[in-house]
Amino acid sequence: MSHISNNLNEAVAILSSGGLVAIPTETVYGLAADASNPLAVKKIFAAKGRPADHPLIVHIADAEQVAQWAINVPSIAYRLFNAFWPGPLTVICQKAPQVNPVVSGGQNTIGLRVPDHPVALALLKAFAGGLAAPSANRFGKISPTTAEHVLNELDGKVDLILQGGRCEVGIESTIVDLSSAQIRILRPGMISAAAISRVLGQEVPVVAKTAETPRVSGSLASHYAPNTPAELVPAETLSKRLAELNDQKLVMLSHLPIPQASNISLIQLPNNPLDYAHELYAALREADSKGLDRILIVDVPAEWQAIVDRLQRATHR
Ligand code: TXA
Ligand code: MG
Repeated sequence: MSHISNNLNEAVAILSSGGLVAIPTETVYGLAADASNPLAVKKIFAAKGRPADHPLIVHIADAEQVAQWAINVPSIAYRLFNAFWPGPLTVICQKAPQVNPVVSGGQNTIGLRVPDHPVALALLKAFAGGLAAPSANRFGKISPTTAEHVLNELDGKVDLILQGGRCEVGIESTIVDLSSAQIRILRPGMISAAAISRVLGQEVPVVAKTAETPRVSGSLASHYAPNTPAELVPAETLSKRLAELNDQKLVMLSHLPIPQASNISLIQLPNNPLDYAHELYAALREADSKGLDRILIVDVPAEWQAIVDRLQRATHR
């Protein structure tokens, strides 16, 4: 039995003895363990059902701790830290040799992030070490944006869930790879490629989804997926698709107004990317829990890049 609590001291005690604590961040809830304890980190992979070669992000209290985890950090990285930390940005750097490779999935790089959530920051300060934490969901499933989502999904597999309310941002951090000369974005997020390019004074490309090596699990074509078949429908072809599906019970997620129909259960989402991202994963969970035939999601503007990315993965078959 896992439980939800506000008790930071209990969380520190559990982490110090090698246990797992789910923590709120501004993006999604994370499943945290002491990043310097390989046995504790291995429990994360077991609890999530995640392959051992998928690297974890180490959460730290501030940019001064980067040097404990990474080497050869380029000086422009500090522009990103100054501009976006604490915040929804993860950087990939070369791993310091003393860091156990279990955290980095055997790679010689390491993901680092300072989360912008008062509970996470207070915990990191009290714990005084790095916390390895992937999103607190079963592998391939939807990331949790409330403590209750974590409890539903990982009850019995996590020692404590820290209550931090509903995550403000709602989708996972932007990941920027700084480990080689070719700086690039491995996972789009609410800190846009344009904002990162502006701060760095150079064009930073977003790596295409199908691209080669770095094992970003969020880069698998299918990820963040509900159990109900889900599909993305362009607004222009929606009425045609609805006519084809008129004998099915549908749940629909839409940021646009949709005419009512007896076979459609509508979840209305906000028509702007900040609020849409904030609500998306809770809406997907709600849609899935209805147990209907199919989830239809009305496609969003291409400029909502990070949201488009998550919708494509959630609907990939
Ligand atoms: O917003 C977030 O980033 C949330 C919160 C909890 O911080 N965390 C999160 O973790 O989304 P996770 O493990 O679900 O996704 C992190 C991604 C994974 O796809 C992982 O493969 C990638 O970051 N990653 C971590 N370290 C990496 C590395 N050294 N090289 C390439 N990718 C890495
Ligand atoms: Mg994840």
